[in-house]
Amino acid sequence: MQDETNLPAQAPFDTMDLLSRAVTVLKQNDRGNYTMPAPNLYPHQWLWDSCFVAIGLRHLDIERAKMEVMSLLHGQWHNGMLPNIIFRGENRYRPDRDAWRSWVSPLAPDEVATSGITQPPMLAEAVIQIGAQLSAAERRQWYKSIWPSLLAYHQWIYEDRDPHKEGLALLIHPWEAGLDNTPPWSANLREHLLPAWIRLIQKLHLINFVGLFRRDGHSVPLDERFSTLDILALFDAQRRLRRKAYNIDKILDHSLFAVEDLSFNSILIRANEHLVEIAKTIREDVPQDLLTSIHKTRKTFEELWDPYGSQYFSRDFITHNLLKEPSIAALLPLYAGCISQERAELIVRLLENEHLFGTAFPVPSVPTESPWFHAKRYWQGPTWVNTNWLIIDGLRRYGFTVHADALTESTLEMVSAGGFSEYFDPLTGESAGADDFSWTAALIIDLLKKK
Ligand code: GLC
Repeated sequence: MQDETNLPAQAPFDTMDLLSRAVTVLKQNDRGNYTMPAPNLYPHQWLWDSCFVAIGLRHLDIERAKMEVMSLLHGQWHNGMLPNIIFRGENRYRPDRDAWRSWVSPLAPDEVATSGITQPPMLAEAVIQIGAQLSAAERRQWYKSIWPSLLAYHQWIYEDRDPHKEGLALLIHPWEAGLDNTPPWSANLREHLLPAWIRLIQKLHLINFVGLFRRDGHSVPLDERFSTLDILALFDAQRRLRRKAYNIDKILDHSLFAVEDLSFNSILIRANEHLVEIAKTIREDVPQDLLTSIHKTRKTFEELWDPYGSQYFSRDFITHNLLKEPSIAALLPLYAGCISQERAELIVRLLENEHLFGTAFPVPSVPTESPWFHAKRYWQGPTWVNTNWLIIDGLRRYGFTVHADALTESTLEMVSAGGFSEYFDPLTGESAGADDFSWTAALIIDLLKKK
C-alpha cells in the first residue's frame, strides 16, 4: 500500500467509460428479479453476491435494487436461514440443485430449491445502503417491508450457529465463509475431512484424471481454481451435511469440522449494528435475547486476537484453538468496526507491508509471504473487489482516509485495465477467473459514485 507521498504514477482512466462498461455487465447478467454472478460458471443466485449487486444497482435503479434483495427472501427457510444459493437457470444446471436436495429438510421452502448452508450476512448492509438513497418516509417503508425476514435471519444465526451461547457464529462448510478455499479452511478441511476414497484417489495418482470432469475447467484455467483434491473434499463435506438433512444438532454430533470464522463474524458484527439501526428507525423492538447475543459477539470477538501474531484469526469451534493460517480475513475487523483504534493501526500495518498485503494491486487474499500464496488461485492470493470494498469502508471508519482513497484508486485502475473479472493477480493486476463478474461491476459503480 502506498501512502500519499509515495503514490505510483497511475494510468489515468476514463470514469464515464468505466461506469458505462460496469452498467453493461450488470445488464447482461440481469435475469429480471435477480442477477447471476457470471454467465456459465455461476448460473444461479448467490446470497452475498446479490447483496453486493444491490449496493451498485441502487445508483442506477432503486426499485430494481430493492427487487434484488427481495428476491433473496424467496429462498428463506422456515427457520430463518438464508441459503447461499437459490437454484435457478436452465435444465442443464439441474445437477447443482440435485446435489443439494434441499427438500430432504422439512425446513426448506416448498417452492424453490436451494442449498442447505448460508453465506456472510451482508443483507443488512444492502438494506441500509438502499435506504440511504431514499427519503425518510420511503426508507421507513422499505425497512418495514424487510424487517420480519431480516430479524428471522439474525435470530437463526444465533439459534442455530451459536449453540453454546458463546457469542460467535460457527460455520460448517467453507462455502459459508464465501472465501471458499482460503488457507485456514483448506488446511482444516485437509486435516479433518479427507475420507478414505479421496486418499485412495490421491495415492493412485488419479487426481488429474478426476480433474478432467470438472465443469469449472471449461470456463476458467484450472490452476486459477480450487485444487481437485480440495474440490473433492468440499463435495464430500457437502454430502455429509445432506445426509444429516442440514440439521445442525445432528451435524455437530458427528463432526469435528466447525469454525468460528473471522470474516463471517466481522460481517455479522456490522450487520447487527445495521439491524439495530433499522429497528430504531421503524420503532421495532429487537428481542432481548438477540440483543444479549449481539453484545456477546462483540465481547467474544476479542478472543480471536493473537497477541503473538498481532492479528485476529478464525478459531476451531470445538478446541477453541486459533487457526493461524493468515488470510485476508485479518483485515476485516476494520469493517466490523468493533475493535480499538490501536488494533486498527496494527491491522493497517499489515496492509502497508509489501511482504504481506501491500502489493502493487492490493489487497491479496493471502499475504504474499505465505506458503499458500499463488497469485492467480482463487482465494489463495488474488485480489477481489468485494473484499477491497469492505476494507475501504473499514479504513474510512477508523480515519485512514489516505489509505482508503489509495485503495479506491488502485481498485478502479485495476478493473479499468483488466476488465470486470472475478479476481485479479495482486502483483501485476492481470485479470483471472470468470469474466463479466457482477459484484466487480456493481461495487465499481458504488466506488465511482462515492468518489
Ligand atoms: C464463488 C465465491 C463465492 C461466490 C460465488 C458466486 O463460490 O467464492 O464467494 O458467492 O462464487 O459468485
